[in-house]
Amino acid sequence: MSPVAQPITLPSDGDHSGRDLGEQELELVRQVLATGTLFSPKGTYVARLEKDFAARYGVAHATACSSGSAAVHCAVAAINPNPGDEIITTPITDMGALTAILYQGAIPVFCDVDPDSYNVTAETIACRITKRTRAVVVTHLFGIPCEMDPIMDLCNERGIPVIEDCAQAFDATYKGKPVGTFGKIGCFSFQQGKHMTTGEGGMVIADDPARERRMFLFVNKAWGYGDKNADHYFLAPNYRINEITGAVALAQLAKLSGVVARRRASAARFTAKIVDIPGIMPQKRPHHCDPVYWKYCVNVDESKTGVGLTEIAAGMRAAGIFAAPRYIGKPAFECQIFRDKVTFGTSSWPYTDASRAGLPPVDYDRNNFPGSIKALSQVLVIPWNEFYTDEHVEYIADQLHAAVLQGVPAK
Ligand SMILES: Cc1ncc(COP(=O)(O)O)c(C=O)c1O
Repeated sequence: MSPVAQPITLPSDGDHSGRDLGEQELELVRQVLATGTLFSPKGTYVARLEKDFAARYGVAHATACSSGSAAVHCAVAAINPNPGDEIITTPITDMGALTAILYQGAIPVFCDVDPDSYNVTAETIACRITKRTRAVVVTHLFGIPCEMDPIMDLCNERGIPVIEDCAQAFDATYKGKPVGTFGKIGCFSFQQGKHMTTGEGGMVIADDPARERRMFLFVNKAWGYGDKNADHYFLAPNYRINEITGAVALAQLAKLSGVVARRRASAARFTAKIVDIPGIMPQKRPHHCDPVYWKYCVNVDESKTGVGLTEIAAGMRAAGIFAAPRYIGKPAFECQIFRDKVTFGTSSWPYTDASRAGLPPVDYDRNNFPGSIKALSQVLVIPWNEFYTDEHVEYIADQLHAAVLQGVPAK
């Protein structure tokens, strides 16, 4: 455990050093270009991608879309809330997963998270359910599955559909079953930093043909392709991907198992090297799950490390490891969009929807989210990558040891 004087350069998911984009992608893109068809409704590559993705997850249907945000938007649209209905979700997530709710005229109702897993739980969801609840979105944060059994028991009992946001959790399993297949709809992102990437892109999966049909229509301006008397059936955007993106995604999908296996193996080696650091605890996870380490997160207990989270992160950054003393700077409900209800014009709709007259205001008070506040104050987010070698893992572990030791009072 000797900190290296010369920082080493780690593979990064921002460029070729940490992304496997090469001959397989090029070959499929070449094939697409040779067809001369880039428009997916007339092509075969996006269709193949959807078929392969669905088969991989053992579900009946998958629909490709232009981003992970679009995927969540499709899922919410498939639920088809009425204006002013509520969708329960986490305040620790990407904004794209939240604006989707507002765009469909529904209101994000945040529930707290477990401070050590950063994930929502059945208990935190239960106390946010009201007569207006139309769906629950669970996010498997950083690739660690939520505790799904009690969540599914609760929501099934109440007849509330669950949407799983798996943007960070490709191939993560809970009791041997992939996340994304517990709820009614699973959502994925192909953004640059995800387990598979097309720069931008996404996918939704579902077993229920009615919901899948609605999602298919939603990405297609609700045009009924192939129908006898096709029409634009309802309000919907164009969230399609083109055939080139489909080709890249097909090649990436073929690599996904390898990516996940390598991330798991290097994360296991890292865990073994850091278990003995006082005050450092890996992100909590259900025992019966197999996470996929989008990032590797640890909780920092400053009373035991004797050094602050910010200083630890700074120590690691000085060594070339872009660890962050936070994930998002603040819980989502403290962002201006929610705090000041900045939505459509000056209306603050759907918060002001007439159907909500007499209802109490939505609770965006940090005092009622102790788990989320604690989670954000103790999480150290360490970048993780499928190209990490044993040497990289050892280096990161050494630098974490060194960053923590700088705060241990001399004897
Ligand atoms: C949990 C989660 N949900 C949704 C999204 C939105 O995905 P995209 O950036 O592809 O729109 C992200 C992206 O980072 C995410 O991490």
